[in-house]
Amino acid sequence: MKTSIVLIGFMGTGKTTVGKALAKRLGKDFVELDRLIEQRAGKPIPRIFDESGETGFRELEIAAAKETAGQANAVIACGGGIVLNQINIDRLRREAVIVYLTASPEVILKRVSGDAAERPLLRVADPAQTITELLKLRQPFYERAAEITVNTSKMDVAGVVGQIIARLKERADFSLQEEAR
Ligand code: S3P
Repeated sequence: MKTSIVLIGFMGTGKTTVGKALAKRLGKDFVELDRLIEQRAGKPIPRIFDESGETGFRELEIAAAKETAGQANAVIACGGGIVLNQINIDRLRREAVIVYLTASPEVILKRVSGDAAERPLLRVADPAQTITELLKLRQPFYERAAEITVNTSKMDVAGVVGQIIARLKERADFSLQEEAR
């Protein structure tokens, strides 16, 4: 039986916010892969991109996903590009159900605007254009990895958490354990 949940989805779809709330509700540990990468590298993500490029970041991401993949009873929030390396999903799926959070490009733009300093991929002249292009490129990867999909555009955090839990209860391969109340 799987006891962990992995959250995937584009930047700004709520992986961190929803992940924290979901972990609290279910009494599971919360792990944010980007923070683990920063801890292991000893520097923030924008500096990793500046010094080692996206390729260097992806290597650290693969190592962090590998380190986390065996963890039971956890909610693991991943960075938006985790799906670009299939090995990450193969490893994470062994212990966890993969939940894909989506949002419309307009909602994503609104949620990430002002965050460009923290999100190197959006440090560009036209973030809206970049979001549209990256979404198109990545959609097939997200869809292939997803076991549960929840659209977060029009729902608050509690609503998204409730929907994820309802969908998890339908699964024969997942044990919810006791909900912390
Ligand atoms: C990335 C998303 C970021 C972070 C890095 C790369 C991506 O995480 O991992 O900047 O490729 O989409 P969030 O999705 O949490 O912003």
